[in-house]
Order: sequence, then C-alpha cells, then structure tokens
Amino acid sequence: MLYTRMPIEIESPEEIGYEKIKYNLSESSMMDLNMGDLHLSLDDLKLEYVAHRGHNGLRKLIASESNNINEDHVLLTNGAAGALFIINTSILTPQDHLIIVRPNYATNIEVPKVIGCDISYIDLTFEEEWQLDVQKIKAAIRPNTALISITSPHNPTGILVSELAIDKIITIAEAHNIYVLIDETYRDTCFKTPYPITAAKSLKVISVSSISKAYGLPGLRIGWLITQDNWIMERFLAAKEMIYISNSALDEAVAYQFYVNKKSFAKKHNERAIRNYTLLSLWLSTESRLEAILPQGGVVCFVRFTNETFIDLTIFYDILVNQFLTMVGPGHWFEMSDRYMRIGFGWTDEEIFKQGLTNISMAIDECLNQK
Ligand SMILES: Cc1ncc(COP(=O)(O)O)c(C=O)c1O
Repeated sequence: MLYTRMPIEIESPEEIGYEKIKYNLSESSMMDLNMGDLHLSLDDLKLEYVAHRGHNGLRKLIASESNNINEDHVLLTNGAAGALFIINTSILTPQDHLIIVRPNYATNIEVPKVIGCDISYIDLTFEEEWQLDVQKIKAAIRPNTALISITSPHNPTGILVSELAIDKIITIAEAHNIYVLIDETYRDTCFKTPYPITAAKSLKVISVSSISKAYGLPGLRIGWLITQDNWIMERFLAAKEMIYISNSALDEAVAYQFYVNKKSFAKKHNERAIRNYTLLSLWLSTESRLEAILPQGGVVCFVRFTNETFIDLTIFYDILVNQFLTMVGPGHWFEMSDRYMRIGFGWTDEEIFKQGLTNISMAIDECLNQK
C-alpha cells in the first residue's frame, strides 16, 4: 500500500513540539492525564503477550455499557486509529465502493484512498448546519458498495447524527447487505451521546471508540471496535494478529484500572469543557468576523470566517502561531479551505482557553490592519 503522511499528523502539536505552543486550541480531546493521577498498582503485572482480543475485564466493562453486546463482540485495538485501519483494510478491496462523510478525521478517508477503492463523498456543509442527509447516502449506493462510513459525534464539527438518521442508515445497509462503520470516538466526550452504542442495533454496524478523547489518555493507545457479527470479527482479529499480535500488556492494564474508576475522572473533565464551551459561545457572539454552528458532541467546533471578511489566510495563521503562540486546526487538515478552523475546547484550562480566543481575535485585527 502506498502510504502518504497526512497534514493533520505532519503539523500536529506532538510533531511540532508541545513546548512551542502556549495556547493550544488545536486538540480534539480532554486535557491529558498524568500517570500519577491514576493511582495504579502495577507491580504484579506480567509483561507477557496478552489475550489477542484484549484484556477480558476491560472488554467486559465496555460491553456492559450496552444491551445486546458481550465481551466477545469487543476487540481491543491500538487506539481508535488502529480499529479504523483494521476495519477498512479487512472489508475494502480496490474493487469495492465506499460511501463516506466529508469533512472527516483524515484517517477515515485516507485509508480507503490508499486501498484504492472507489469513494463517494457525502459532503456536509455549513449552510446545511453540517447535517447528514440520509437520502444522499441512499442515492450513492452501487452494486459493489461494501461500506458506509460515518462519524458521530463528528470531527471536526461536533455535530451529532440523530438516532433517527442512524436507524434509517441501518435499514438501508441491511437491505443492501452493506457494513456501516460508525466512528464513535467522541460519544462519551463532554456531551454524552443520547443513544446506545450503535453496534448494539444491528449485525451490520461496527462501532469504534477509545479512551483518548473522552478521558485524555491518547498516550495509552487503547481503543476498540464492537461488532455482533462473529464472521467479520474473526477477520478483524486475524488483521490485528498479523499487524501486532496483541496490545501492550502495560497499556491494557493501565486502561483497565482506569476504566473501573472512569466516572470520577469524567466529571472533572466535562465540567471544565462545559465552562470552555460557554466561553466559546460568548466569544463567538461578539466576534463578528467569524461564525459557527455550535457543537452537540465532542470538544471541537468548526468555525469559519464570514463571507464579508477578506483576510489573507497565510498571514493570519502565521501571525496566530508565531506572534500569539496560538494553534487551532486549520481547514486543510480536513480537506477544507483554511477559512475554516477547528477550535478544541476540552484540552486547556479556562485561562489559557480564554486568552487563546482573544489571541485569535487579535491575530485577525493585526492581519486586517496590515492591508
Ligand atoms: C473521529 C476520530 N476517530 C479516531 C481518532 C483516533 O483516536 P485514537 O487512535 O487516539 O483513539 C480520532 C483522533 O483524533 C478522531 O478524531
């Protein structure tokens, strides 16, 4: 497979160096936790190969969050990114067709592209308030459609696909014998998704999630996929075994001990994110050069310059990063114009977040004054 690096990864804070960014509004997760925050007991941990499906206790806990799901339906992976890679490469071949929502988290689009399958994009627009039109999915189906790929809550907009729309998509997929990949990585992040894990609804649905975004633990690289379809699960397991046999014993043990107590961490995370969300909506109501559809899920908002704002985008981002040490996720990370930018409100404390927003406004002022 001919892999190419994705801008969102090349330009990510971890590649640039976190220490160079004072106001980091580019993150899509909650503030990262430290090992010491977790109060772990790991001395007896044997550093052996672990169960290929993943830590039994953790899989049980994940499964217990939904009816119809048991631990055999859960495969632990190397982050949600690992799950997405396994699913896409196990289901899709160059002869297959895929329907995918755009913009999206880059991997969701780039992996099918690298495989070489035919892709129909369902483009979400600001004008339609980023809402997914199920009829467009129906119209895009071909005889060789193998997968419908959606993300909810959606990155980068934070928009939630309604349960009604999900149910309609499942009906379509079942009628055409197509798998549905639902990337639910943000389902427990800040605003809790008001419907069950979607893999519980149908054998055709494969859900993906992780502990990265909702709990600020992306460094553990623990995610999972969920499917009730035993046949496809065997293929996913085969893929995992070929790529890396099992997850890291250390990551899984830490993730399990964390997961047992996750509610106590989630409360603090969510309260901070909600306070930042309030700051964000207040700021947007006074910042007339920008506009946004406020998110209903996750901790990101996809803001854009209004049509009336004539701004040199190269100069704007240069001033924002180099003069104000502030980073957001520019539109090109999501194959969109840089008139759009993703602002993450879960990762920083309120003081940094507020100053970061002020810096965006000051960078716009500075840029417009240079004309
Ligand atoms: C929608 C979505 N899915 C998956 C991932 C990958 O997350 P991880 O591999 O850290 O679980 C991300 C990361 O930004 C994401 O935004």
